[in-house]
Amino acid sequence: MAGTQLGALAPHRGITDDDIAAAFPPNGTTPDDDVRLALMKQLQSHYTAYLAGAEGFQLVPRLNADPRIVRLEDEWLRWEDAQVDAGQLPSTAAEFTDWFLDVRNRHVQPGFSRYLAEEATIEEIALFFLAEELVDSRFDDLVALVQIGATPTSKLTMAENYWDEMGEGQLERMHTRLFEHSARYMRHRLAERKIDISKLQCTEIYENANIVLMYGIHRHLAPRALGAMGLMEYSAPPRFQAMVDGCERLGVPADVVLYQRIHVHVDADHGAEWLDNVLVPLVRRSPEAMREVAMGILTRERIANAYYRRIWGHMREQR
Ligand SMILES: [Fe+2]
Ligand SMILES: [Fe+2]
Repeated sequence: MAGTQLGALAPHRGITDDDIAAAFPPNGTTPDDDVRLALMKQLQSHYTAYLAGAEGFQLVPRLNADPRIVRLEDEWLRWEDAQVDAGQLPSTAAEFTDWFLDVRNRHVQPGFSRYLAEEATIEEIALFFLAEELVDSRFDDLVALVQIGATPTSKLTMAENYWDEMGEGQLERMHTRLFEHSARYMRHRLAERKIDISKLQCTEIYENANIVLMYGIHRHLAPRALGAMGLMEYSAPPRFQAMVDGCERLGVPADVVLYQRIHVHVDADHGAEWLDNVLVPLVRRSPEAMREVAMGILTRERIANAYYRRIWGHMREQR
């Protein structure tokens, strides 16, 4: 699995109380980015090991058995919750759809998309593509994780989404395989130009991946996972379209761009169905679940915005 490559580099060292306090300071001071990155790498290794296939059973950690990981997750969640302005949460299920669409509309990154489409070089596009690897190469597993316990209509919607991830039954059209195919091409472009991809070892990229893994793995965070994934799907198509336009401008072969091209339409459908059939029924059933869904959405929005800013900065440094 391509997504394990960055995670495998994580240093294995003890997580101390001092590390946690420095990474997620309780008093509103600026987090220590180096410590936070080291912790995020450990969390990424933990999640990657947890999501291993059956043949890796001897290495799969027991969930919640390591008190240092539990503490790290608790403190990270607390820190993220403190970043959310409670006044921004929807107050009733009736307003949820409009609220969600507002968040979605402000989350489509129009400036970044225009840059991808019109200005980015092939090296910059390749860097962005590889930054996406930590999340996109595991997306089908995330969809699988959130189906557990869903009501029938909601489960069916996710199952359709999952079937799309499976290439509608065709091995060569499985999304993770298409992604890997494109990633190989992009990695070669960077290697040819001797571009250092160690820049991708940054906190924002790991947090962007870890937040949905944490939400997906821990069953009590399921509403957050559903919210965050709904936002991911619904806001992704303009960015995928921009990648298609940028790749066409740069003469990237059609088979390499297929992953992005498929997602322009597929994710627009997934996003709309996820909202109508998964999120709306859930928030109507439970105000407490609505709060969790919305916390997941706003947290994902904050983390993803920081991620796009950082990766865009790295891209422009290539010039
Ligand atoms: Fe997909
Ligand atoms: Fe999708």
